[in-house]
Amino acid sequence: MTYHKITIAIDGFSSTGKSTVAKQLAKELSYVYVDTGAMYRAITLYAMRKGYILKDTFNVKSLIQDLPSLNLKFIFDEKLGFAAIYLNDENIEDEIRTLEVSNYVSRVAAISEVREKLVAQQQEMGLEKGVVMDGRDIGTVVFPNAELKIFMTATAEERAQRRFKEMKEKGQDVNYEEVLKNVTDRDHLDTTRKDSPLVKAEDAIEIDNSAWNIEKQFQKVLQLAKAAIDTVNH
Ligand code: DC
Repeated sequence: MTYHKITIAIDGFSSTGKSTVAKQLAKELSYVYVDTGAMYRAITLYAMRKGYILKDTFNVKSLIQDLPSLNLKFIFDEKLGFAAIYLNDENIEDEIRTLEVSNYVSRVAAISEVREKLVAQQQEMGLEKGVVMDGRDIGTVVFPNAELKIFMTATAEERAQRRFKEMKEKGQDVNYEEVLKNVTDRDHLDTTRKDSPLVKAEDAIEIDNSAWNIEKQFQKVLQLAKAAIDTVNH
């Protein structure tokens, strides 16, 4: 009997621990993990480096013109234990995690041409199933037929606290208020944009993890994944 793999879509607000849980889950199931937020961040970093995004201006037209020449790929990194993102053969995994990129990324993610390019690539990466993909529109747009859809939420304060701690640990110079503002600004932009706004898919299972630690969250998601895999294989 063939053993069928499934597609697992994990969507939700920023800093809900989606990627931590998605990475753990992919490892446990021997599935491929795809961090779609990293792809939007990579395009944002490119636009910043080219000077297309400045404090008050955004040269959307030039960015759109350059899109066909931008090549994104993920290459597994032994040390990290997951795949790092490359933009035109340069490893930019660290550069895309700064608060500056976080502050601009929602504007880039609102551009339909950007979404079209990235969604097509994401769908291709999931063609053979056996993927855990995290983002904002995975269960609604990228894989509307995913066998398991999870929607993660937590209070803005809790999410800001987590992100603040993470950034401090990496030695970044940030204050809590600034991080909280970024979290709430992005929530607003991500849920109100015209193209593929962040919404819970009708058939997604919602998990509010405000009061949960990573282990509890992982166990819950693993249990859901196993049940979904069993359903497909019976
Ligand atoms: O998951 P993240 O914080 O790294 O995502 C960065 C931004 O990219 C987020 O503010 C919204 C956007 N995004 C998106 O619009 N669609 C996705 N599938 C993933 C991320």
